[in-house]
Amino acid sequence: MKWLSSRYVFPLAIITLIISLCLQCAWIRQLYLAQKKSVTTVLESIVSDASRQISYQSIVKGHEKSIRFQQFFLSPEWLVLRHAFDDLKVDNLRSRFHYGITNDSSVVEMKMSFPNNPKKQIYQKSTAITDGKSQREVSLEDQRDLKVMDSLVNHRLYGLGVAIDRNYVLYDYSSGKLVKGKAVSKDASAFVSGKYTYNLKFQNQYQLVVPSITWLIIYQMRYYLISSFLMLALTAAAFYLLIRLMKNQQLYAQARMSFTSNMTHELQTPISTIAVALESISKYHLIDEPEKLQNYINISRHELQRLQAMIEKVLKQEQMDLGKTNLQFTLFDIQSVLKQVIFSMDIQVREKNSQLILVPSDEPYFIKGDAMHIANVCYNLIDNALKYSPAHSKIEVSCSIADGELTISFKDNGPGIKEIYQQQVFERFFRIFSQDNIHNVKGSGLGLHYVKQVVELHGGRVALQSKIGKGSNFMIILPLYEEN
Ligand SMILES: Nc1ncnc2c1ncn2[C@@H]1O[C@H](COP(=O)(O)OP(=O)(O)OP(=O)(O)O)[C@@H](O)[C@H]1O
Ligand SMILES: [Mg+2]
Repeated sequence: MKWLSSRYVFPLAIITLIISLCLQCAWIRQLYLAQKKSVTTVLESIVSDASRQISYQSIVKGHEKSIRFQQFFLSPEWLVLRHAFDDLKVDNLRSRFHYGITNDSSVVEMKMSFPNNPKKQIYQKSTAITDGKSQREVSLEDQRDLKVMDSLVNHRLYGLGVAIDRNYVLYDYSSGKLVKGKAVSKDASAFVSGKYTYNLKFQNQYQLVVPSITWLIIYQMRYYLISSFLMLALTAAAFYLLIRLMKNQQLYAQARMSFTSNMTHELQTPISTIAVALESISKYHLIDEPEKLQNYINISRHELQRLQAMIEKVLKQEQMDLGKTNLQFTLFDIQSVLKQVIFSMDIQVREKNSQLILVPSDEPYFIKGDAMHIANVCYNLIDNALKYSPAHSKIEVSCSIADGELTISFKDNGPGIKEIYQQQVFERFFRIFSQDNIHNVKGSGLGLHYVKQVVELHGGRVALQSKIGKGSNFMIILPLYEEN
């Protein structure tokens, strides 16, 4: 599909991610509201259950055997009745509550009376029969029940699995006035329970206050939140990897195209030179001029050698990529290989008026490897340093050892390589196009890829330190041979 070209993929991926983020947010919001409702219901039921239980415990003292009391006082209907009775707000209401066991019945009495004389403003709600106990004794018992009630609520809250900051407020039963604690306004994140009595002494009403239930709701939603976050992260990672893969493929395709045009150009130059030389020989009857003839033959031979070297290079790389290269491992001193390579490059160095120095070491450094391939690696790195540095530059080759590893460093004071390209230069066909002298310097983009492959086949690694304008330091790190 042409319209789905790669430049649309990135914005499309971003739009998809934003839409799924918005959908996730809307879904989480809905879930939050639903969870808030359920958390509020749970908290309310914790307080009402505790109130029912503690009320029953305070009543049952002395009447433990009464099944009827148990059935009645623990029933949800009684709780509803209690609530209705507690919330009853009628002027001049007088009420009386009594429970007990007679010979043949368990008795619960709730008596309400309204004096007929409305001028007498009496609002006296609920008095319980106190079985002859003094006010002080009733108060003490009420305090005890309150403690039990609060610790039961606390215990149940603890069971929810997350530490909840909570407190309680007490209201006077008859007047409804605040007796203990601080009244809390019901904001969006706070929970304030209904008012509950916790015995039948009609002293105070208990109200649970949780200043913020946000964390409790989030804790309840934890699995949904984690899965939704994971889904978003996975989608983002998948898009990121896809886009990166596409970019790499694009780069690779570009590099391959430039490799083809580079190579065609490189192959065409010697072919045209040889063609021109042969044509000149026949056109100008150079057979009669042996000196000139020899000169043209030499040029053609040199160009043919260049052609052969280039074809060999590509074929060698192909074999290495297919894993068909057989390395001939021998034990050799790296210094002697370096000396040979440097000697063979003398003409190139002179041509550029450059300085190629091998920093001598006191002792030989033995490694086990393929001497021919290692020599090629060194050749490639020195060739690059010469090719990309301007004339009169200085190239320094040195060896050092550390932690059983040998580091061979090829340092130049050439143009340097930008940090973003420092990994890419080791990729197949990669050449830096923005470099000023790229049009003058010929190459296939295979050299450093070959270097990396050979070094890794020897169990080593490559490293590059470079600063633009300051030069580059290519390092190959190889395991040093150790006698067992
Ligand atoms: N010493 C260096 N200084 C600056 N740039 C360098 C240096 N060595 C390599 N490069 C950059 O890295 C790129 C890749 O180098 P590589 O040796 O793989 O390919 P090449 O030199 O272009 O071709 P080949 O080595 O196959 O003939 C080069 O095109 C060049 O831009
Ligand atoms: Mg090169």
